Amino acid sequence: MSQIKESSILISGGGSGIGRGVAIYFASQGAKVTICGRRQEKLKAVSNQIGTNCVFVQADITSKEGRLKAISTALEHGKGLDALLNIAGNMYRKNLEDLEEDKLIEIFHSNVIAGMMLSKESIQYLKESSGSIVFVSSVHTRRAFTGASPYAASKGALETLTKVLASELGPSGVRVNCIVPGAVPGEINQRAGLFSDTEAKIRLEKLIPEHRLGRIGTAEEIAKAIEYLITADWTTGAILDVDGGLGLGAIKD
Ligand SMILES: NC(=O)c1ccc[n+]([C@@H]2O[C@H](COP(=O)([O-])OP(=O)(O)OC[C@H]3O[C@@H](n4cnc5c(N)ncnc54)[C@H](OP(=O)(O)O)[C@@H]3O)[C@@H](O)[C@H]2O)c1
Repeated sequence: MSQIKESSILISGGGSGIGRGVAIYFASQGAKVTICGRRQEKLKAVSNQIGTNCVFVQADITSKEGRLKAISTALEHGKGLDALLNIAGNMYRKNLEDLEEDKLIEIFHSNVIAGMMLSKESIQYLKESSGSIVFVSSVHTRRAFTGASPYAASKGALETLTKVLASELGPSGVRVNCIVPGAVPGEINQRAGLFSDTEAKIRLEKLIPEHRLGRIGTAEEIAKAIEYLITADWTTGAILDVDGGLGLGAIKD
C-alpha cells in the first residue's frame, strides 16, 4: 500500500484517545476509515465529526461476532481492507500480591488475543491488498512503571508477536509493525477507574520532565508514525518508538 487516499483502514478503539486522533488524521488524508469500540456514543461523535470518510461499528473485539462485524463493515465501507490498526487496549494496574486471575485473563484477552484474532480474521483481505497490520505497544515495555506488570506484560507480548507475524506473513506480502507511544492524552486510565479526567491530566503533566523533548505527545504524531509504517513497503517487523524520549530513561550524570 503506497498511498493513504482511498485506502480502507480498520481501527479498533477509534472512539477515543489515540484511536480517535488516528481516525481523524487518516480520514483527512482521504482514507475510508472504519472505527470500532464498545461505546456507541463515543464512536458516533467521532464519525459525525469526520463525515463520510468514517463509519463506526459498535463491536467488542473480544467476541468473534464483534470482530467479524467490524471487518465486514470495513470491507463494505472501504471496498476491501488495506490496513488493520489494533489500537484498542485496556489498563490493569496491581502489585503482584494483589493480582486477580480473572482480571489478568481479561487484560490479555483485550490487549493481545483480540488483536491476534482480528488479524487472523482479516488476513485473507490483507493478502488480497498486500496490506499491513499495526499493533500498539507502550513505553511500559521500555521503562518499569511499578505496579503495572499486567499491562506491561501484555504490551511486551505485542512486540514479540509483531516480529513473529512479520516473519510468517512477509512471503505473502502482508507487513506487520508496531508502534511504541510515550504519554499521549487518552482515556485508558479513566476507563479503568484509576483516575478522574482531572487526575489523569495532572499525571500526564507530571510525566513531562521524563520526556527528553519536554512535552507529552499528540494522537496526530502517533498517526503520522503509523502512516509511515503502513505505507513503507520495505518495512516489516519494526518496533517504532514515538515517545518524545520518555523511553530513554535518561539519567543526568
Ligand atoms: N495514551 C497513552 O499515553 C498511551 C501510551 C502508550 C500506549 N497506549 C496505547 O494506545 C492505545 C490507545 O490508548 P488511549 O490512551 O488512547 O486509550 P483510550 O482513549 O481508552 O482508547 C482505547 C480504546 O479502546 C477501546 N476498547 C477497549 N477494549 C475494547 C474492546 N474489547 N473492544 C473494542 N474496543 C475496545 C475503548 O473503547 P470502548 O471502551 O468504548 O470499547 C477505547 O476507545 C491502547 O492500546 C494503549 O495501551 C496509550
